[in-house]
Amino acid sequence: MAASAGLQGWAVHPGYAAVCRLVWTVADRRGVGFAQPPARGRALVTWRAAAGGMGGMTAPQHTEAVPRGPGLSAPAVELRGVSRDYGSGQARVRALDDVSIAFAAGTWTAVMGPSGSGKSTLLHCAAGLERASAGQVLLSGEDITAAGEQELTELRRGRMGFVFQSFNLIGSLTAEQNVTLPLRLARRRVSGSQVREVLASVGLEDRRRHRPRELSGGQQQRVAIARAMVTRPAVLFADEPTGALDSASARQVLRLLRGMVAEAGQTIVMVTHDPAVAASADSVVFLSDGRIADRATAPSAHEVAERLARLEA
Ligand SMILES: Nc1ncnc2c1ncn2[C@@H]1O[C@H](COP(=O)(O)OP(=O)(O)OP(=O)(O)O)[C@@H](O)[C@H]1O
Ligand SMILES: [Mg+2]
Repeated sequence: MAASAGLQGWAVHPGYAAVCRLVWTVADRRGVGFAQPPARGRALVTWRAAAGGMGGMTAPQHTEAVPRGPGLSAPAVELRGVSRDYGSGQARVRALDDVSIAFAAGTWTAVMGPSGSGKSTLLHCAAGLERASAGQVLLSGEDITAAGEQELTELRRGRMGFVFQSFNLIGSLTAEQNVTLPLRLARRRVSGSQVREVLASVGLEDRRRHRPRELSGGQQQRVAIARAMVTRPAVLFADEPTGALDSASARQVLRLLRGMVAEAGQTIVMVTHDPAVAASADSVVFLSDGRIADRATAPSAHEVAERLARLEA
């Protein structure tokens, strides 16, 4: 009943409430949950680079002090010694290996690395979509490692946005309904103008009534971005948010992301394979074999490309 009540206004047909409940469940499983007023703070990324990264070179153990103490806000998200294993026995894959990193509030960090290096796993663990096998995950200083499913769902609805590598749009809903879904899940008022505005900001005001199968890959990606932005989450996790976009659309999305950080103090952690996209962020961390192998602060696209090439050599 709660689900159909939360989705009032959509339920025009008696059977639709059941569909809404199903959509609700699927959406929660897919991590569509959201927003609170953004945290404010300044840029600082800390990490510990594990030995053995950078193409066989022994990388130094990097640790930048995370500012702590009265008056200093905790990092928006922090991973402490996080490992994530898949499978068991001979088939075990260590996707993340003792990763420690803090994403300060109000910063934009790009995560790069070869395919399979653990970038998506890092985002999923940080967002509580996957459980760490070891280590701790903290959200604004609060340890969420042992949080129950319900608590994690509430946290995601309340504080996070997620753009999935595979978009994860709900196929039966229009672009507009996909975008409003997180607001409805959080039982927040949905204003038509707010939704139109966010769809217009990604250049899709004329595609409001289209379903995902009627949209191109790049258009679906932009709906997913609009959905992740609409509730102004304190932390936005974006897994290759420009991967399917042409360069003009990518520039538009990057401008939006910069606005979220600069004007609203939101925190962004973004995976990308594109050095030019990574150079739009405040800093870049490089993963290799599940470990943090390198980092760069405000690098040029050229520097990013060089470091990446070294990593992949
Ligand atoms: N559910 C899973 N079961 C088993 N292994 C998994 C699972 N998810 C990821 N892996 C493995 O963990 C490693 C890291 O995967 P991950 O998806 O994080 O990589 P990635 O850096 O995001 O790669 P890409 O750039 O291709 O998206 C890979 O070796 C992958 O095969
Ligand atoms: Mg990935």
